Amino acid sequence: MKNESKTEIKKQKPHSEAFFGEVRDYWWNKDFLELMAKRLALNKVKDALDVGSGIGHWGQLLLPLLASDAKLTGVDREPQWILRAEDRARNAGLEKQCAYQLGDANALPFPDATFDLVTCQTVLIHLQDPKHAIREMIRVLKPGGLLLAAEPNNLANQMIGGTIVHSVNEVMERVRFHLMCERGKEALGLGNISLGDLVPGYFAELGLEGIGVYLNDKSNPLFAPYADREQQSMIKQTEEFVNQDSMGWDREETRSYFIAGGGTLADFDHHWNLALQDMRKFIAATKNGTYHSAGGGVSYLISGRKPYPSCI
Ligand SMILES: C[S@@+](CC[C@H](N)C(=O)[O-])C[C@H]1O[C@@H](n2cnc3c(N)ncnc32)[C@H](O)[C@@H]1O
Repeated sequence: MKNESKTEIKKQKPHSEAFFGEVRDYWWNKDFLELMAKRLALNKVKDALDVGSGIGHWGQLLLPLLASDAKLTGVDREPQWILRAEDRARNAGLEKQCAYQLGDANALPFPDATFDLVTCQTVLIHLQDPKHAIREMIRVLKPGGLLLAAEPNNLANQMIGGTIVHSVNEVMERVRFHLMCERGKEALGLGNISLGDLVPGYFAELGLEGIGVYLNDKSNPLFAPYADREQQSMIKQTEEFVNQDSMGWDREETRSYFIAGGGTLADFDHHWNLALQDMRKFIAATKNGTYHSAGGGVSYLISGRKPYPSCI
């Protein structure tokens, strides 16, 4: 970490802490990323920037697909994550190619036209003004450089079915709860966690060319006996959430989103109990081997190139 505030590790919960478990290692099929690397000529990239790099998952996954001498810079606003990303890079033997530093996606600490590739994963969904951050990403891209964003529609996940069947009304009630929380989070200036749907339009509006939109082909199936680590990690994550009185967002956080989304306190307790009850039912069904689901979700990979300045 270059910045001096490395020593000022914050006491409060750092951003996205609940979402950096083992489950995140299973978000992508390697051969799908190889296909994307071929389509997007990632092997020509020598200088890459991973914005909102977290503990390094996304950038370090892409790095082997870039030029063999490529350098990856990661920038994040959380000092804890910078240290963890450095550790992960060392453990993977990538420390010579990776450098992590503190920085804000809204004011990237780099000169114009520095990178061949600027990328982010599940970051635009957390920003109050994602278009402003995209403008910043474009600013630090070289002309002809590639902007690559992996951003989801998380609401769609609420419609993924499994062997725990709900009535139509129960499904709608759960989707409504999530949508109200999503809207409330956005109203509080904390981003739209289903923003992926809008990102290609932002790329076009901000002048990127050759825009491509792809869907991550990875699903997250669960079926007995849940033998592989991926499936076990999903079950473990749900157990941890329940033990922490959390659904990824903790109770207090979720309540604030729900209220900001137009909900009432009395309704919140009802929905929270349902959410926890669903997770407990899921855990019980995996214990007796009756739960199965194809998994899935909507996660986009969106690309576009910065145009060369016009010669006129
Ligand atoms: C959901 S995590 C994604 C981390 C990483 N991209 C990955 O996919 O593993 C979101 C990350 O964005 C960072 N972040 C949020 N707002 C930011 C901002 N304004 N500037 C820089 N980083 C930010 C958070 O600290 C967190 O590490």
